[in-house]
Amino acid sequence: MKGLLLAGGHGTRLRPLTYTGNKHMLPIANKPMLMYGFDQLRASGIKEIGVILGPLQEGIIDALGDGSKFGVQVTYIAQPEPKGIAHAVLISQRFLGDSPFIVHLGDNLLKDNIPEFAHEFLRSGADASVILTRVKDPERFGVVLVERGRIVKLVEKPKQYISNLALAGVYFLRPTIFPVIEKLKPSWRNELEITDAIQRLLDVGGKITYHEVSGWWKDTGRPEDILEANQLVLKDLKTSIGGMIEEGVTISGEMKLGEGTVVRSGATLRGPVVIGDHSEIGNNASVGPNTSLGSNVRILGAKIENSIVLDGTVIDCSERIVDSIIGKDSRILSSEATVSRGRRFVVGESTFVTL
Ligand code: G1P
Repeated sequence: MKGLLLAGGHGTRLRPLTYTGNKHMLPIANKPMLMYGFDQLRASGIKEIGVILGPLQEGIIDALGDGSKFGVQVTYIAQPEPKGIAHAVLISQRFLGDSPFIVHLGDNLLKDNIPEFAHEFLRSGADASVILTRVKDPERFGVVLVERGRIVKLVEKPKQYISNLALAGVYFLRPTIFPVIEKLKPSWRNELEITDAIQRLLDVGGKITYHEVSGWWKDTGRPEDILEANQLVLKDLKTSIGGMIEEGVTISGEMKLGEGTVVRSGATLRGPVVIGDHSEIGNNASVGPNTSLGSNVRILGAKIENSIVLDGTVIDCSERIVDSIIGKDSRILSSEATVSRGRRFVVGESTFVTL
């Protein structure tokens, strides 16, 4: 079995964070988003992984390399324009050859048993298998109608309600999908839709199986989704302290601190919290819950919760910062002592904010 990890696309809904960096490299609990899918493919026993790259590739090749440090072989496949998931599959035909394969969207996080589904797919001989999950806003996704335990219809972004069972971004496929995609026409958004391809497979008598997600699933298209994914991943955090916590720090919950990180006396840490290497939490600062701070981050004074702060950023103010994603090497500084109020940020790389 082979794997295909999709890391193209522009990430427009995450601007300004995605002007300078690839969306798929944004950290969730201090691990680049696309590593979650990559690790699922590896856990399924896959040794050959194709990675689809768009024009904004920053950091991806540095992180994955040729795959050898992860015990797999990585092949990069260019998709210069975001022409859809089915298009990504089609341009990977040479890499995929005659092997069954898993397509994992690089911006989807799934807590479920992908390795078990993969083995079951291989045994079943089905042409395709999909993962479904109930959603409140089915019009944002590919949606499936199931009758008597069988998929009978698949529609991408349905304008009219057909069901609330959405397609999560993990697909188990075989080479029987290639001739179907070749005949597809681009959708209204000018993409070759994998949802349409699987519908065609169904039309010609293909066998399609499915699983409903038993854990959780998150598509990280919008900032609030990224914060929610961060929260969901942090739920499983186990304490490990690499750095130093001085005496007189108030601590609760689980936390992970990297090498060389210092938490000063008087600070408060409310887990779950993950902090990278060589960061500093000052004596009046409070961090957490549900917060991920990268490496070389300095939180001096502020109270920050339910947020993600990327590497190299300094926050020195007396404000309360909530539900925020703050890009690399930014500065949020106080110009004067202000009354604590909650403020919301989505701040890009190398930004300077004065409060
Ligand atoms: C894509 C698929 C959609 C699926 C979703 C999952 O949507 O087209 O069927 O439900 O991923 O994240 P997109 O992110 O391109 O809007």
